[in-house]
Amino acid sequence: MSGKNWDRVPIDAQSIDAPLSQAAIFLVVTVASEPAALAKVSSVLGELDDLVKTVGFRDLGGHLSCIAGIGRDLWDRLHLNSRPRELKPFAPIKGPVHTAPATPGDLLFHIRSERPDMCFELERILLGSLGTSVTVIDEVSGFRYFDARDLLGFVDGTANPTGLDLPDSALVGDEDAGFAGGSYVVVQKYLHDLNAWARTPAHLQEEIIGRTKIDNIEIDDDNAPRKSHKSLATIVDADGNEYDILRDNMPFGRAGRQEFGTYFIGYSRYLWVIEKMLQRMYIGDPPGAYDRLLDFSTPHTGTTFFAPTRTTLQNLVQTAQEQRPAAGPVNSPAD
Ligand code: HEM
Repeated sequence: MSGKNWDRVPIDAQSIDAPLSQAAIFLVVTVASEPAALAKVSSVLGELDDLVKTVGFRDLGGHLSCIAGIGRDLWDRLHLNSRPRELKPFAPIKGPVHTAPATPGDLLFHIRSERPDMCFELERILLGSLGTSVTVIDEVSGFRYFDARDLLGFVDGTANPTGLDLPDSALVGDEDAGFAGGSYVVVQKYLHDLNAWARTPAHLQEEIIGRTKIDNIEIDDDNAPRKSHKSLATIVDADGNEYDILRDNMPFGRAGRQEFGTYFIGYSRYLWVIEKMLQRMYIGDPPGAYDRLLDFSTPHTGTTFFAPTRTTLQNLVQTAQEQRPAAGPVNSPAD
């Protein structure tokens, strides 16, 4: 936790290193085209920190946190003078068998807490404030499943960077000084075919993931005919440097509708690293030898955002507000 005492004060908005939680809400919205909608969104983003305090202070042990990510189109519509170097819309990927679609999204809110009710309350007040200036594109409530397992039954998140490796992997550095401390965020909502997975023998499931199922031990598959998910998602450059990302995937589902999913969320210092992971998963390495996890997991969304630091977000909001001519009101549902 980088020496922060989050038991005494609410967690600052935009804390990418906030603790992994028992519950999360992933909310993706688009912003209406009128100038008044942009003005509304800017002012709500400017007050996000206060909102996290308003809800978070009611139970500090709930460790409520919220990260807002801004998509490339909205970034341009805000008429800001500069943009994170790599920020661009999610590029769909067409592999030999599986395709990763790109879906709309101007803003992402990644809300985390130990308590689902705190996530819900923050989302409720947030959407009340945004009113008709936004349209909800996707809303997923995730839950921690036993010892951080996905619904495929594997422990998910083990190889995440820790300690000093975390900012090194997840946060932009001096290479883009104006946006240092921020992070590129990619989300994808996957639905699993659990019946087909259940018919797959455990040893084959383990080969596909690259870890043992019960005790989560990494499997060395350097000489295997087909690379595992873990190996395809490992990015190493020509000099042997490995590039990690910070993941906070969450299971979600509705058993009554046979809906079983994993919400993938990855934070990265460099967008190209996540893109490379996706290329290797969908196209395969060597090409054709794609990630067999995809035979059981179908992506239904795919969107890229940039989550600036709290200070950068507030500066951006101020710049956007100064640059925009006075706008008329946008209705809230309560109006
Ligand atoms: C259905 C969706 C997904 C599921 C269920 C899933 C599950 C897992 C599991 C169980 C592991 C092994 C344990 C761990 O280190 O966390 C893992 C590793 C990993 N996954 Fe995924 N994953 C999914 C999608 C993705 C996507 C889309 C990416 C990247 C774009 C990704 C990147 C990684 C990385 C970087 C690792 C660690 C590799 C290493 O050992 O260094 N995953 N995933």
